[in-house]
Amino acid sequence: KKGSYDHFMQKEIHEQPHSLTTTMRGRLKDGEVLLGGLKEHLKTIRRCRRVVFIGCGTSYNAALGARTFVEELTGIPVTMEVASDLLDRQGPIYREDTAVFVSQSGETADTLLALDYALENGALCVGITNTVGSTLSRKTHCGVHINAGCEIGVASTKAYTSQIVAMAMMALAIGSDQISTQARRNAIISGLTSLPSCVSEVLKLDAEMKDLASSLIDSESLLVFGRGYNYATALEGALKVKEVALMHSEGMLAGEMKHGPLALVDENLPIIVIATRDACFSKQQSVIQQLLSRKGRLIVMCSKGDASAVCSIGSCRVIEVPGVADCLQPVINIIPLQLLAYHLTVLRGFDVDQPRNLAKSVTTQ
Ligand code: UD1
Ligand code: F6R
Repeated sequence: KKGSYDHFMQKEIHEQPHSLTTTMRGRLKDGEVLLGGLKEHLKTIRRCRRVVFIGCGTSYNAALGARTFVEELTGIPVTMEVASDLLDRQGPIYREDTAVFVSQSGETADTLLALDYALENGALCVGITNTVGSTLSRKTHCGVHINAGCEIGVASTKAYTSQIVAMAMMALAIGSDQISTQARRNAIISGLTSLPSCVSEVLKLDAEMKDLASSLIDSESLLVFGRGYNYATALEGALKVKEVALMHSEGMLAGEMKHGPLALVDENLPIIVIATRDACFSKQQSVIQQLLSRKGRLIVMCSKGDASAVCSIGSCRVIEVPGVADCLQPVINIIPLQLLAYHLTVLRGFDVDQPRNLAKSVTTQ
């Protein structure tokens, strides 16, 4: 089933132009988004007091990546909950809330317990899942199947990008009654249409990521700095490196750098800074300058053609990625980090598809 690939994770990373196409198939028509599973519930969702995203691990990160554009396109405040933490705190969930549960498997115990809790509290419960017939799909009031195809590698890759795209379509559908954001919605819909080809393009960085991995093979730790739309990319890139390459890694909010993490910076610790074009670009430029002035060992991810705008030649390693609509950029930016985690794992001699101590679906609390 792996075809010409050595591992499922590798196959699933390279499959993303296709899995994203199937996520969108039949759902973007004549500049409109059609989500059969939400159609009857859009009015209720538009009236809700807030959206609460709930998930674990990669699925939580995908929801975090979607948060900004859901707020922007719907005008509804969005709060984030890690499923286990919501349960630990017995945090407030109200009848007026729309609780959106994100889970690849649809069988994660923490997420399902949080679903029971939200159902008891009377919230409208929406599922975003890859698994038709899963407990999540059956128990939620409505939802969207992401249709990414079966994911076998324990490290979630193609489900992450399809979850973000499914949530982008959800945000477009909820916001479709707003005239003021029509132009923005049209731009995002056309961005979605060209996304699979941009993903094919960014996958060409495979050899470059393998080379980068070989330079990081003996590092003890790797930091990833992101902000705005790409804070989620930083968390998710670091999660991949931890779980498969078994290397300590942390995703950090770049705006928090000066409030502590800056103390770690020296010439040995590798730091990836995500600085693709969006409203936060100039702030990321200044983060890069501050890190360079402390002799940080930087790897900067930037939009194509921006290498000299992000750092002076020779002062850091640059990964150039194709630019897409700012809110869809996380779908592109995670891919070099997935490739990096994959190659780092192989080069360090660890098991890619069955990382130590992990199972594909965590069905215990
Ligand atoms: C559906 C069909 C699809 C068909 C399409 C044609 C299914 C599973 N999907 O897709 O095969 O090609 O119509 O119009 O038969 N749901 C939940 N919770 C979740 C996910 C989904 O309750 O977590 C519900 C939805 O509200 C919906 C149903 O499951 O009622 C199917 O969802 P989805 O597959 O996303 O719907 P369509 O895209 O319309
Ligand atoms: C990371 C990973 C886990 C899962 C998490 C939630 O690669 O696979 O962090 O994302 O266990 O799983 P689902 O999405 O099935 O609820």
